[in-house]
Amino acid sequence: MKNLIVYATKHGTVKKCAEMLKAKLNGETVLANVKEALPDLEDFDTVILGGSIYIGKIQKKLSNYAKDNLDKLLKKKVAVFICSGEDKLQYITESFPEKLLNHAVSKQLFGGELVLENLNFFTRFLMRRIMKIKNGYARIKEANISKLADKVNEE
Ligand SMILES: Cc1cc2nc3c(=O)[nH]c(=O)nc-3n(C[C@H](O)[C@H](O)[C@H](O)COP(=O)(O)O)c2cc1C
Repeated sequence: MKNLIVYATKHGTVKKCAEMLKAKLNGETVLANVKEALPDLEDFDTVILGGSIYIGKIQKKLSNYAKDNLDKLLKKKVAVFICSGEDKLQYITESFPEKLLNHAVSKQLFGGELVLENLNFFTRFLMRRIMKIKNGYARIKEANISKLADKVNEE
């Protein structure tokens, strides 16, 4: 089995989750940042799409990738995941085409991380003063990563 994880990340949490997922998947797994050159989908049996939420939205590059490759993706085993501060199912339903979500073997919220020190001055200010977020957090849900991996590993 050959798996491709196409991910979008701003501060690295989605990439970290993609690596955790890779460790749980059977077969060979390739990680590809949606911002870089992407491999041909024809070379893979399974495609997993993962992104993160900023001000309520997933990275546009990832949602466009899902839309632009919909026909090809519908011929593969597919799973999707989201990293976010809040657990909102709408983040999944609003990020990917409905047809793709109906076809997916698993759709998971993997939780998220916020390291205030990693943000630029303006964003840190925004988080602290406007959004009243005083402390960072690390809430990656490994159980949900395992759930997605188990579904993908099923025949
Ligand atoms: C400026 C900013 C805006 C964010 N907006 C949201 C949001 O609207 N909803 C949410 O649940 N999480 C939000 N988050 C939390 C991120 O989704 C979370 O930190 C995630 O782990 C980021 O993953 P990444 O580092 O792979 O991009 C926000 C984080 C930042 C820094």
